[in-house]
Amino acid sequence: MTTSFEQVEAELTTLSQDAQATIAQTKTLDELERLRVLYLGKKGQLSQILRNMGKMSADDRPRIGQTANDVKDTLASQLDQRLQELLSAGIEAQLLEETLDVTMPGVSRSFGHIHPLNRTIDRILDIFVGLGYTVATGPQVETDYYNFAALNIPEDHPARDMQDTFFFSDGRLLRTHTSPVQIRYMEKQQPPIKIVAPGRVYRRDTVDATHSAVFHQVEILLVDQGVSFADLRGTIKAFLAQMFGPDLPLRFRASYFPFTEPSAEVDIEWKGKWLEVLGCGMVDPSVLQSVGYDPEIYTGFAAGFGVERFAMVLHQIDDIRRLYNSDLRFLSQF
Ligand code: DAH
Repeated sequence: MTTSFEQVEAELTTLSQDAQATIAQTKTLDELERLRVLYLGKKGQLSQILRNMGKMSADDRPRIGQTANDVKDTLASQLDQRLQELLSAGIEAQLLEETLDVTMPGVSRSFGHIHPLNRTIDRILDIFVGLGYTVATGPQVETDYYNFAALNIPEDHPARDMQDTFFFSDGRLLRTHTSPVQIRYMEKQQPPIKIVAPGRVYRRDTVDATHSAVFHQVEILLVDQGVSFADLRGTIKAFLAQMFGPDLPLRFRASYFPFTEPSAEVDIEWKGKWLEVLGCGMVDPSVLQSVGYDPEIYTGFAAGFGVERFAMVLHQIDDIRRLYNSDLRFLSQF
């Protein structure tokens, strides 16, 4: 049985009309893809109609082929056009849904930052590391030997009093200064020595605006051949200039520490007044002897700074207790 040209052409026309009406109605991308397969797929309706071409006369075949191609092109371009429409409708819907109200208040993030005391310690360490010093540390629980005896602090010195020092029942104590780090370091190393030692120290002080039972010091120690007081002076001046600015007025005032001879305290002029910021001096020969150095060959200098004092001066903090209260309203200013 042959299939007439008219019959196939009628089928193609019906397919084309039905398909165009259906494609125009599609609402989703999935639906549209299903229609593409239904009409134009390998086993789709167009292919099915063309399967009958073999039964047509040789004259009719090219004509029906042409018609079939036209239907295919028409449907393909309609499918594409609908695809574009659905895509842009989707974007618009999404945009509508996700409208930004730029006048709404933002969500602010809180940033963590370094505590002013640690910042001050870091700054002091940076300066001395820049001058070639090595950072050293020691234990906070000390023995009488390291905290006092090796530092030439005599038995009857007031610092050893129960009034000033926290003792454990076994005779150990909480170090009252960072100077014991000097002894511990020198015991293990031979000169030349150049260390900067930060740390926490403890004293039985009544807490008030300028005193705390726990506070922080930074110790420096330099031992070598031919070290003089002029070296100490130059080092302290260079350090304070970097800490507070180059034109800072400062003065060395003769003082006394058991572990240095001669000893000095250094004041800086701050807001029109002299303010003591550190103790220092030439390492006492007896201290060098206690670690087995020959004081005839080696000399050295040492200094100790109170970190809280520096932080308070740098940031105009009027009460030391603010540094320990963990009050974010205060801390977030730094
Ligand atoms: N250790 C002393 C104190 O706590 C401070 C000090 C003074 C340290 C003079 C030193 C120094 O190294 O040479 O008060």
